[in-house]
Amino acid sequence: MKILGIETSCDETGAAILEDDTILSNVVSSQVEVHSEYGGVVPELASREHIKNIDYVIEEALEKSECGLDELELIAVTQGPGLIGSLLVGLNYAKTLAYALDLPLLPVNHVKAHLESVFLSGSKIKLPAVNMVISGGHTHIFYQEERLNYRLVGCTRDDAAGEAFDKVAKLLGLGYPGGPVIEKISKEGDETAIDFPISTMSDGSFDLSFSGLKTAVLRYVRNEDIEPCEGKKDQKPYTDIAASFQKTIVEDLLQKCKRVCRSYRPYSICITGGVSINSRLRERFRDFARQKKMEVHFPEPDLTTDNAAMIAYYGFLAKEEAKPPDLRLNAISTLDLNQEQKR
Ligand code: KG4
Ligand code: ZN
Repeated sequence: MKILGIETSCDETGAAILEDDTILSNVVSSQVEVHSEYGGVVPELASREHIKNIDYVIEEALEKSECGLDELELIAVTQGPGLIGSLLVGLNYAKTLAYALDLPLLPVNHVKAHLESVFLSGSKIKLPAVNMVISGGHTHIFYQEERLNYRLVGCTRDDAAGEAFDKVAKLLGLGYPGGPVIEKISKEGDETAIDFPISTMSDGSFDLSFSGLKTAVLRYVRNEDIEPCEGKKDQKPYTDIAASFQKTIVEDLLQKCKRVCRSYRPYSICITGGVSINSRLRERFRDFARQKKMEVHFPEPDLTTDNAAMIAYYGFLAKEEAKPPDLRLNAISTLDLNQEQKR
């Protein structure tokens, strides 16, 4: 079955063609340059960029996979959560195409697509697993008993982990997105230089919070009179701040994961989403899994950040739920947690 996946939830315009669970093409047009001067995604600019790019991205995905429109059997599209204007560009495109080609359409939850992206790399993963989505928009911990079945056990109460990377990078004048540059300059820094706080929840829940860490970095920068780096990012104090911040956020994520593992006793740990490419994070989670004789899995690098291959893959997994396109099908900007718990 040939499936077209479309992803426009934030600042990446993505289209992919899968033949069942095999990726034939996976095209992403990134808007990083458009948003970088603002230090974060500007929603209106993101929607406009999607409108400009979507035809070309879909055309390229079809060309690279040597797949004709007449060969498609299903269209899967991100319905939410995400930026409403951005989501509508992809969703309306998918609805129109499905009408015109008389194809079934599957609206996909972006967070669930991240959760399943780890299985797309072909690795055999022993379930149940603790599956964490750690991205710019989400930091959610799920207990996954079987495929397509997740229970939310904890989530951030404020910023997502990737958002914290982006905001700290903005504060230090390192550019956008923050994750890759913080990871890079951390290699030159001393991660024990500054003691930043790890969040604890007084109610004993598995929730996370990164606003305290973000404020601690801000306070440190103000107290020490540190100016934005202006091209000196490879030097102290930026490298030390980056390394200490990265260590703290990774340890925070790992501590929560350890607590969830103690309660739920899964076979495996899966980490997905844009932050899951971070090498320090991968190393620390691998160490923990080795000690506990558990498996740990991450998606292939190009499946960590937003992409349409994971959307098409979710379409393949849930193809029975696809329906003829419904005019009333609308985008959903927030993650409906109650819905998540029911599934
Ligand atoms: O999954 P994604 O593309 O978008 C959302 O669904 O939100 O994740 C983007 C996030 C950004 O916040 C970016 O700073 C972060 O992933 N990121 C990283 C790294 N590469 C990207 N965070 C830490 N280390 C990295 N190497
Ligand atoms: Zn995402």
